[in-house]
Amino acid sequence: MGENPIDLEPDRSNQIVLHQLATDIRLRCVECDSQYPGVSDQPRYRCDCGGVLDVDTNIHHPLQQEPVFLESFEALKTSESDVKPFTGVYWRQLFEGRVTSSSTWPVNMVTQLADSSGVWRYRELILPIPEQHIVSHPEGNTGLYPVGRENCGDHRSGHRQIGHYAGLEYLYLKHEGENPTGSFKDRGMTVGVTMASLLGACAVACASTGNTSASLASYAAQLGLPGIVFLPSAHVAAGKLAQSLAYGATTIQIEGDFDDAMRLVEHVCNELGIYLLNSLNPFRIEGQKAIGFELLQQLGWEAPDWVVLPAGNLGNTSAIGKAFRQAYRLGLIAHMPRIAAIQASGANPFFRSYMSGFRHREHVRAQTIATAIKIGDPVSYSRARLVIEESNGVVEEVTDDAILAAKTVIDRSGIGCEPASAATLAGARKLVERGIIKREERVVGILTGNLLKDSLTGIPQHKQGTTISASIEAVRRALANNISL
Ligand code: F0G
Repeated sequence: MGENPIDLEPDRSNQIVLHQLATDIRLRCVECDSQYPGVSDQPRYRCDCGGVLDVDTNIHHPLQQEPVFLESFEALKTSESDVKPFTGVYWRQLFEGRVTSSSTWPVNMVTQLADSSGVWRYRELILPIPEQHIVSHPEGNTGLYPVGRENCGDHRSGHRQIGHYAGLEYLYLKHEGENPTGSFKDRGMTVGVTMASLLGACAVACASTGNTSASLASYAAQLGLPGIVFLPSAHVAAGKLAQSLAYGATTIQIEGDFDDAMRLVEHVCNELGIYLLNSLNPFRIEGQKAIGFELLQQLGWEAPDWVVLPAGNLGNTSAIGKAFRQAYRLGLIAHMPRIAAIQASGANPFFRSYMSGFRHREHVRAQTIATAIKIGDPVSYSRARLVIEESNGVVEEVTDDAILAAKTVIDRSGIGCEPASAATLAGARKLVERGIIKREERVVGILTGNLLKDSLTGIPQHKQGTTISASIEAVRRALANNISL
């Protein structure tokens, strides 16, 4: 808890940036509202009261110091309600211009890289630093697939099966598995590793159910920084473990589950002066907000009615909710979408807390086939609770069977995802059946990880069939039962 006892060693050239950040951002405790400097010689992940921290940023539009902007702003600022739509126009122009500039404008390479990232395109709302300090693959720019019964094109009957399954006319799936390491974690990691680099960290570490570790390993390798990942033994999908090993992170498997690994890594980082890159680190949350900004931009800044996503450690629920809150306050969108956080019924502490009206914070011994969300004591509980309350959201649980059934539908549509991601579709379907989400409402579901992350769970291995001889007759026989030619 509190400050890390070992000093970081920022490069002299980074000192100016850190100095500016120290005036632009504060860390605020979600529990007791205490405030701390945004950056200091020693990293801080928790308040002295033990609460998690949130980044408060002074957000400035790049034109804000220009006289013309100030004049028109003052001229139009006749009441509170005028401010939002007016400034919203300016923000929309900025972000739209960056989409164009990343592919066509002859801007300098550094700016081009930042603009082409689906995270750093929104840099004023993420981490206001000069572009040359950004560590990026780039990431983001993930697909938003229209798959509802009405909004799916006629020629994509495979995709429309998803809309039928959910019972929704206007459903989109945002596939975060299309990020560089195959999960949404890259969006937070680019910001976390950028901070590690600015602060001159000697090493970075995380506990993980597999995706955070794969992402950390890759971004740390890009920077040439030692990465250390703590994994719950025997609970991590093979594809994710392979990534950490291949990218060269020191991979430590511990006896116990994710919650044990999480407690251990926080202790290790505080003791050994290693920079912690779990979503306990509030800068990770800032990067993950970009899922929200990007999906809004893809929808032409017309906010959907609902966003549905799988919930484990609750970093993503917190981040997406915060993005919508900021987008609303800046006038980028006219209303806040409602958030539906979906848990596996064997790993459902947040759902249990929600059912008690958030009177008790629940913990469970987690058990689910969706190993990515096999978490019993979520770190970002308080941040996510705020999001559910503020967005008039809901928390739902779905069984492993429902997750597997939904995964089959997503896989067979050709889109594909890892098991935890399918909780999104299973949850949307359940909420429609319960009448909480209305059939004609506009819904965005987040698919958090790539199909290849877990190539065993929920994949029909028996369909491989037997090996046949390399002859046309054998092929005819093999196809006879499946396809009429
Ligand atoms: N989906 C996938 C594929 C995940 O990997 C995770 C979390 C989640 C959903 C849940 O997101 O934790 O922000 O609520 N994976 C973490 C990890 C815990 O270590 O990779 P959350």
